Amino acid sequence: PPLSEILNLHDFEAIAQKVMPEKAWAYYSSAADDEITIRENHAAYHRIWFRPRVLVDVTKVDWSTKILGHRTSMPIYITATALGKLGHPDGELNLTRAAAKQNVIQMIPTLASCSFDEIVDAAQPGQVQFLQLYVNKDRAITKRIVQHAEKRGIKGLFITVDAPQLGRREKDMRQKFTAEDPSEVSKAGSDGVDRSQGAARAISSFIDPGLQWSDLDWFKQITKMPLILKGVQRWEDALKAYDMGLAGVVLSNHGGRQMDFARSGIEVLVEVVAEFKKQRGIVFPNPRFQLFVDGGVRRATDVIKAVSLGATAVGIGRPFLYAFSSYGQEGVEKALQILQDEFEMNMRLLGARSIEELGPDLVDSSNITSH
Ligand code: FNR
Repeated sequence: PPLSEILNLHDFEAIAQKVMPEKAWAYYSSAADDEITIRENHAAYHRIWFRPRVLVDVTKVDWSTKILGHRTSMPIYITATALGKLGHPDGELNLTRAAAKQNVIQMIPTLASCSFDEIVDAAQPGQVQFLQLYVNKDRAITKRIVQHAEKRGIKGLFITVDAPQLGRREKDMRQKFTAEDPSEVSKAGSDGVDRSQGAARAISSFIDPGLQWSDLDWFKQITKMPLILKGVQRWEDALKAYDMGLAGVVLSNHGGRQMDFARSGIEVLVEVVAEFKKQRGIVFPNPRFQLFVDGGVRRATDVIKAVSLGATAVGIGRPFLYAFSSYGQEGVEKALQILQDEFEMNMRLLGARSIEELGPDLVDSSNITSH
């Protein structure tokens, strides 16, 4: 169908499933084990309801905000997803160019299928990009990546901490990647690559399962970029990150692709906000330490819920992959435009004229248990 018939982010998924090569679909859509967590990522948002404020003059509404001090047209960012060329020949560049047009921030993955420099070069002057980092067993390689990123103007380093070993995504594992598959699969992996169990396993053998809290000081020494942990799943770890002077955490279960039965990011957010208040008297949003959430976000209402509960912004992954796999860059622009339209309407209906006016009073999260 023409792009004009696409009405929401779910539509891209349905179309992508029909048009994408089976292996690519398996890699993008799969999640761990019985795929309970990926389902929960959506379900958790369905347990939160709104308490709209009426009779507010909402002629003008503005949902732009700042992430780590950088302007964005809405409180979302394009999160890191590996292997963009599986879905479209231009891979991650589709995201870079669409992000520029819609003024949002892109997080570049370590395992992008375009080279890092290609993706940075494709950005407009002043366009903000972050980097997602998988820490290599060989720290010299990681140091080179981090320092090069800083030199190229990357504004934040998101260290993935939920993947000491890649989860079992069985849909993906049933696909055999061969040397003929898009070169990025074979290239991204290092020596001794096992291609017999899907794309994820083929590319992940370099990741260091020995990464631990004490390694984070080293990152502070080698870079001045803000450090954020991606994949935190409990308040104790969020508080540790805060106490270590990091810039924030992404409450995430990796789109349900790592530990099955991990809780949704939005559920963890409620817990984190409550404990920070109780233990440190800290309230969110907080410029010194920012909370991000990802997983299962498909509507502006999902984003508004997370921001109302204390998140600075929310990451969105698969919908943009499905959008460019079906329609290239234009698909991603359309997906972002749909979100903008949803923001405008829902901010009005909620009686909130700006991001600053969002707060916990606007949502009923009583169905979300705080442990
Ligand atoms: C991911 N994600 C991910 N995260 C990361 O830290 N490094 C990576 O290389 C990847 N790669 C990746 C590939 C694909 C195909 C997907 C779907 C996801 C996880 C990603 O950053 C994010 O946490 C989730 O995708 C968010 O969930 P939704 O929006 O996809 O539901």
